[in-house]
Amino acid sequence: NYYAILMAGGVGSRFWPVSTQDFPKQFHDMLGSGDTLIQKTFHRLAKLIPEENIFILTNERYNDLVFEQLPSVTKRQVVLEPAMRNTAPCILYASLKIQKENPNAVMIVAPSDHWIEDENAFTNNVKQAFYFCSENNALMTLGIQPTFPNTGYGYIEYDKTSTEEIKPVNQFKEKPVYEIAKQYIEQGNFLWNAGIFMWSVQSVIEAFKSNQPELFTLFENGKDAYNTDLEEDFIRNNYGKAENISVDYAIMEKSSNVYVIAAEFDWNDLGTWGSLYDKLDKDTSKNAVVNARTLSEDASGNMIRTKSNKIVVVDGLKDYIIVDKDEVLLIFPKTKEQDIKKVLQKVKDKF
Ligand code: GDD
Ligand code: MG
Repeated sequence: NYYAILMAGGVGSRFWPVSTQDFPKQFHDMLGSGDTLIQKTFHRLAKLIPEENIFILTNERYNDLVFEQLPSVTKRQVVLEPAMRNTAPCILYASLKIQKENPNAVMIVAPSDHWIEDENAFTNNVKQAFYFCSENNALMTLGIQPTFPNTGYGYIEYDKTSTEEIKPVNQFKEKPVYEIAKQYIEQGNFLWNAGIFMWSVQSVIEAFKSNQPELFTLFENGKDAYNTDLEEDFIRNNYGKAENISVDYAIMEKSSNVYVIAAEFDWNDLGTWGSLYDKLDKDTSKNAVVNARTLSEDASGNMIRTKSNKIVVVDGLKDYIIVDKDEVLLIFPKTKEQDIKKVLQKVKDKF
């Protein structure tokens, strides 16, 4: 009865110029490990879930990339979204399809672009969660011990009085402003939301039905079409009508049956060049180098990547991102990495 929804429809614009709208980060080997991020995620999930029960949700423009990179996957497992509507529509749609196939399904929803070191610990945590949500009407999250007031994550306030490993959640707050995030961290009983969810198909559909009735009705109307030849028409005519909203705002903030397990594995959401730098091996001067040969003097803390093992000579440069890709060469301070999104917009307008 175990299923997975692998969400692979985002753009990853802070990883420009490697990640682009036509070829986003989940389809790249960001870590230089030989596997792309989606391949790594798929194989991590396949240790827990029969491969044929792993559904991949992505934008229709990534159809070819999915089948090239995951050749064992069949058409039945891939849902192609005709419009980008964030994660709530994606999750509800896949859940309704899975429910039609197996009303007793228990599932994990996972992003396609994370780094997880200890896969056994990950597997154990997910198994624990699966067991719990087979028995309970629960929306399960994996919590990460926060280290600073990051405003790009969801925060989970758990019940301090609970002595269980699986703790009831008092409050789920998506992307708080800095001041609030700071207070949360000082308070202590808050974890970051890893963006990985576990629940039974009944529980998640119930949550959408009560908190997002419009979205629920829109997709519930396709029930007869799901998993048939009529589905393609249904999705083409209706998916774009869905509200653009993430699952965190759509159901997690609004539900009272949220639970959390503190993750026992190291996690990084690989959201920026700096977070990638943190995870890569460094040379003796603390430069992280992917697909390049470097000659560096008086250069440290740099993230260096080329496309084809280029020789890169750096001297007198500290804490920079240097990324060489086809027609673009990016040289950018690591401290301003969040602004790469904006730079991309400027470049688009100018060239
Ligand atoms: N299929 C599909 N369709 N996938 C999508 C879409 C879409 O329209 N939009 C985003 N995704 C995928 C992304 O590719 C990514 O794998 C995942 O869904 C999460 O989306 P992000 O855009 O990366 O979310 P986030 O990082 O801002 O926030 C989420 O993750 C954080 C942890 O990394 C939230 O769940 C936060 O609460 C959480 O802390
Ligand atoms: Mg993310």
